[in-house]
Amino acid sequence: MDIKVTRTIQTGSRPKDADLGFGTSFTDHMFVMDYSVDKGWYDLRIEPYGDFAMSPAAMVFHYGQAIFEGLKAYKTPDNKIQLFRPRDNLKRMNRSARGLCMPEFDIDTVMDALKQLVKLEEKWIPKTHGTSLYIRPTMIATDPCLGVRSSFTFRFFIILCPVGAYYSEGFNPIKICVAKDHVRAVLGGVGEFKTAGNYAASHHATEKAKKDGYAQVMWLDALERKYIEEVGSMNIFFVINDELVTPHLSGSILPGITRYSVIALAQKWGMKVSERQISIDELFLAHKDGSLTEVFGSGTAAVISPVGEIRYGKKTIHIGDGTSGKISMKFFDALTGIQYGKEQHTEDWIEVVD
Ligand code: COI
Repeated sequence: MDIKVTRTIQTGSRPKDADLGFGTSFTDHMFVMDYSVDKGWYDLRIEPYGDFAMSPAAMVFHYGQAIFEGLKAYKTPDNKIQLFRPRDNLKRMNRSARGLCMPEFDIDTVMDALKQLVKLEEKWIPKTHGTSLYIRPTMIATDPCLGVRSSFTFRFFIILCPVGAYYSEGFNPIKICVAKDHVRAVLGGVGEFKTAGNYAASHHATEKAKKDGYAQVMWLDALERKYIEEVGSMNIFFVINDELVTPHLSGSILPGITRYSVIALAQKWGMKVSERQISIDELFLAHKDGSLTEVFGSGTAAVISPVGEIRYGKKTIHIGDGTSGKISMKFFDALTGIQYGKEQHTEDWIEVVD
């Protein structure tokens, strides 16, 4: 399918690498396409980044039919542009689309658009290790209709932003707080899809946790409020008795691409890995008997984020000595080594943009 390209003459400039936070500065162009039942996906275009004109009755504003993805482009030392597992993100987006009654798209077509857009915005890709160009594909329901049903029309777009670390702590351990009174997602619901509503549902507990000095909330299962699921913007891993333990994909957990990558690396290194139910009580007991040695989160935005403190009700545990653990560092170095093209690797995870 042809992609029409309209370039802007008003180009912006990328903030200094040291000033990059997460998700506040956007590049000059975006990719957009629209969908109707009759036409399928049509009007594929790369155009100047700008506001959408949209009916206030558009269904996304009222009933939250919205899905998105997060992936990154990296600059290698020899100035190549690399994408990390982009097709896995797009496949997951199509899975979310099915879950939310939204139309799927052709992965090769969107990959082509994504690469063209990233190439056009090459000057926006920061080079310092730890910085990258964050890519946010999004799909929203656009029918102007207040009747509750699935929309007949949709818009898909990709926006880009140069980013640094997601947490203000950088790679230093963060503090997280277990949600006791709130849940993120229920079995049979949409927790395993990357849909906007899951994030809206997280704000109440997260804002409270932030006021108390915690970076994120750790969610428990909605039924028994006992088993660990995930953390605000990442999946979670524990090192217990030298084994890597992570909650299994119960049906209400986001199947993270970085999570899969961590598991694959651990297996390759011969580490014992368990995807299983782990209760919050087991975690606190493992801390008490000394077998819990590290905790870290994984995600596109979060990369590998060590966790140094967990609060559950009135109890608080401290993990490690306040610095990033050896195993978290090993995963961080291995993953970022592959992403930034600094390490030799055998994984089929990189797609070069040329
Ligand atoms: C990501 O890691 O890309 C995410 O989507 C998490 C968050 C920023 C919403």
